[in-house]
Amino acid sequence: MIVQIPDVLSAEQLHAARAKLFAADWIDGRATAGHQGARVKHNRQLAEGSTLARELGDMVLAALERHPLFISAALPACVYPPMFNRYEGGEAFGNHVDNAVRLLPGSAQRLRTDLSATLFLADPSHYDGGELLIDDTYGAHAVKLPAGHLVLYPASSLHRVEPVTRGVRLGCFFWVQSMVRDVAQRSLLLDLDTSIQRLAQTGADEAVRLQLTGCYHNLLRMWAQP
Ligand code: NI
Repeated sequence: MIVQIPDVLSAEQLHAARAKLFAADWIDGRATAGHQGARVKHNRQLAEGSTLARELGDMVLAALERHPLFISAALPACVYPPMFNRYEGGEAFGNHVDNAVRLLPGSAQRLRTDLSATLFLADPSHYDGGELLIDDTYGAHAVKLPAGHLVLYPASSLHRVEPVTRGVRLGCFFWVQSMVRDVAQRSLLLDLDTSIQRLAQTGADEAVRLQLTGCYHNLLRMWAQP
């Protein structure tokens, strides 16, 4: 299940974030890669826990909390503090699968990575390459979204970032532990929720909509591990 979440950040937020990111200090992206990832990871990122990473990360988290499609698609139990990366001059991230479990920075708490997320921060016309390629059972999907848009995909997917051959690709990435671990169950709940929202907009039979809303919550009750 690959879900695009539009308009997570506004043009003003993006403008301010990019100005700060271009003035920031960057470190080798391998600082946070696992063994398999480190061999194929060629990019830079903000140091985890740096003042700027926290400031921008909090802005992203606040935006996500207000985004109904993100909540509906991810059903988040816990979100990893967002990190920020940049690719330029041919940098790329080869095929890898994200680590299944991560320690939350500064705590003893662990997060199971059910979903991976990339929030695009640069205008796609300002760089060449840099597509996020995600493999699923239907083949590879190339994702390169407008600035401010986010893609959510199963963290179990094999994925890669194509070389950036012109300009700079700025991105924000993080993981989500979902209340509903199983991707098929989560996908079904998203379809059901989306249909219920449509029924509300089109003024459909209220009693039927209510019944379907009950089905949604009862399935969520059955499957959720808050
Ligand atoms: Ni990855």
